[in-house]
Amino acid sequence: MTRQYKNIVILTGAGISAESGLSTFRSEDGLWNKHRVEDVATIEAFIRNPDYVHEFYNEMRPELFAAQPNAAHKAITTLQEKYPAQISVVTQNVDTLHEKAGNKNVYHIHGQINQMVCLNCGHVFESWGAFSSEDTCEKCGVTAMLKPNIVFFGEDLLCMNDVDRLLRSCDLFLSVGTSGVVYPAAGFVQIAKMFGADTYEFNMEKTSNNMMFDAHIYGPAGTTLPTFVDKLTAEVKQ
Ligand code: OAD
Ligand code: ZN
Repeated sequence: MTRQYKNIVILTGAGISAESGLSTFRSEDGLWNKHRVEDVATIEAFIRNPDYVHEFYNEMRPELFAAQPNAAHKAITTLQEKYPAQISVVTQNVDTLHEKAGNKNVYHIHGQINQMVCLNCGHVFESWGAFSSEDTCEKCGVTAMLKPNIVFFGEDLLCMNDVDRLLRSCDLFLSVGTSGVVYPAAGFVQIAKMFGADTYEFNMEKTSNNMMFDAHIYGPAGTTLPTFVDKLTAEVKQ
């Protein structure tokens, strides 16, 4: 790692929050083994049975409100403080652990649990409270149109113009704790690579996306990422 990087993009997935006690999606006890995606994370489900979908996210909100960032999230803050580059975090996670750890430039491409969006007027607002189909939008006054601001399957990702720009200018791309099966995020490594970035994957195990990366660092991100950040920042001082 002798190259001095100028634009670093860190893509994160549920694995970075695992050591904060949050379930991932595709592990044995993961969310998608307990709930059907079609029931809680599609627009069709929301239209068919909005209160069932609201209930799912209402239950999730207090757990994510209470969760605390771990050493991997904090390592990103350290990197942003010590390494002289533009460093952006593109996260698939709907938790807010990056922000709680003090990370800057965080892009939530799959939305965030503490926001609601009005499907009638597009108004987005923050709340850690509970919602139902009886709630009314404070901006347009229409009832039954508030949806958790979480990207459901079949919906467009958020902030993609910014993310696309970042990927095209990035020279170091890190992917942390994501299984690499959900597109378009799973394809970000290819874009970064095409534009000349060095690419590293941090995971507990080999992923199906594995061959796209220049290097793999296996182990819990709470250990591997701080070590990697130490190495990177040590090179700045030389
Ligand atoms: P997954 O559950 O698919 O993958 C989590 C990955 O993290 C797996 O590859 C694990 O091996 C790895 N992992 C687990 N613990 C780890 C640790 N301590 N350190 C490092 N890696 C670890 O979660 P995502 O890839 O984030 O979409 O899933 C992508 C999207 O699918 C999610 O954003 C979600 C879901 O449907 C929405 O909610 C819109
Ligand atoms: Zn509205």
